[in-house]
Amino acid sequence: MPLVRLAIQQFRNIKACDLQLSPGFNFLVGPNGSGKTSVLEAIYLLGHGRSFKSTLTGRVIQNEQSELFVHGRFMSEDDYELPIGINKQRDGSSEVKIGGQSGQKIAQLAQILPLQLIHTEGFELLTEGPKFRRSFIDWGVFHTQPSFYEKWSRLKRLIKQRNALLKSATHYQELSYWDLELAELAETISQWRLEYVNQLKQVAQQICGVFLPEFEVKIQYYRGWDKDTPYADILQKNFERDQQLGYTFSGPNKADLKLKINATPVEDVLSRGQLKLMVCALRLAQGQHLTQSTGKQCIYLIDDFASELDSQRRGRLAEYLKQTQAQVFVSSITASHIAEMQSENSRMFHVEHGKIEQG
Ligand SMILES: Nc1ncnc2c1ncn2[C@@H]1O[C@H](COP(=O)(O)OP(=O)(O)OP(=O)(O)O)[C@@H](O)[C@H]1O
Ligand SMILES: [Mg+2]
Repeated sequence: MPLVRLAIQQFRNIKACDLQLSPGFNFLVGPNGSGKTSVLEAIYLLGHGRSFKSTLTGRVIQNEQSELFVHGRFMSEDDYELPIGINKQRDGSSEVKIGGQSGQKIAQLAQILPLQLIHTEGFELLTEGPKFRRSFIDWGVFHTQPSFYEKWSRLKRLIKQRNALLKSATHYQELSYWDLELAELAETISQWRLEYVNQLKQVAQQICGVFLPEFEVKIQYYRGWDKDTPYADILQKNFERDQQLGYTFSGPNKADLKLKINATPVEDVLSRGQLKLMVCALRLAQGQHLTQSTGKQCIYLIDDFASELDSQRRGRLAEYLKQTQAQVFVSSITASHIAEMQSENSRMFHVEHGKIEQG
């Protein structure tokens, strides 16, 4: 289920391009600042409605222009070419088109286009706060539980509402009605997250065994509150503390994934290159699990493939990516680093000053 065509307009330094893609490997090769990451960013924007580099749309739209466009043709499971597209304006508004129909939701695009991004800032998955690991877990739950998005959106609204109510409430009774729904949703979502992590763990540990054979990585899910207490009881018990803090302290909004080697967090044990391999293993595991559980294939975006990796590790990653048979976009400053991945099925694009030529 690859993208067969990609058209980008007025996106960073890319004025306009229209690329015929390979269902296998697509290489983007060019010097610093040429536009390689921008191509990956455009694909990411098509699947997520936002960039992975800037929160402000204005930074991504080409200077002097008022809007950007990214269009793709996606080969669906039944060999039908589905046109998808997004337009973004400077005021932050978006227009999503799927199959020629306007007014579609970004979540629908995300459903169609499961993406896994591996980039140099991606270490945050292991080294930064729990929100990165929560969104990692939720990517998987989103793609495997059809009602996750709706329930999760409702849960976020309820927590926000509760936090506002905490400021004015004088007795717990004023919150208890709302907490009934909140507790039920929290338990459901938490159960889905737990089931997902338990399934993913097996795939991830197996891939870690290939990429980091010298370590035994343990993965554990933390749901955000004491594992033996129902969430409804936590909400009631912690009412006064939450009130003092001004927000709901424990809950699914605090969920996390603990990744350890011999009881030490992985970020305190692994080197930079090893951390990159660990991130790759986790992202590949998500892709593999998605295929196993839904039959869908995800698309991998790998920015600056060679950075932090020696030639042996690069070879291992390249080999694994080939095995997945997924569509892969790989950027690199030099063609020599990606030479071993090339095949008759792959396509090479040379990027220079925002111009992309097939080579
Ligand atoms: N809004 C914008 N309008 C026009 N050009 C932009 C805009 N934002 C960034 N640029 C330029 O677009 C280019 C984007 O480069 P990009 O990050 O895609 O390069 P790259 O090929 O990935 O380079 P590197 O190898 O250094 O990672 C840069 O030259 C940058 O200065
Ligand atoms: Mg780059």
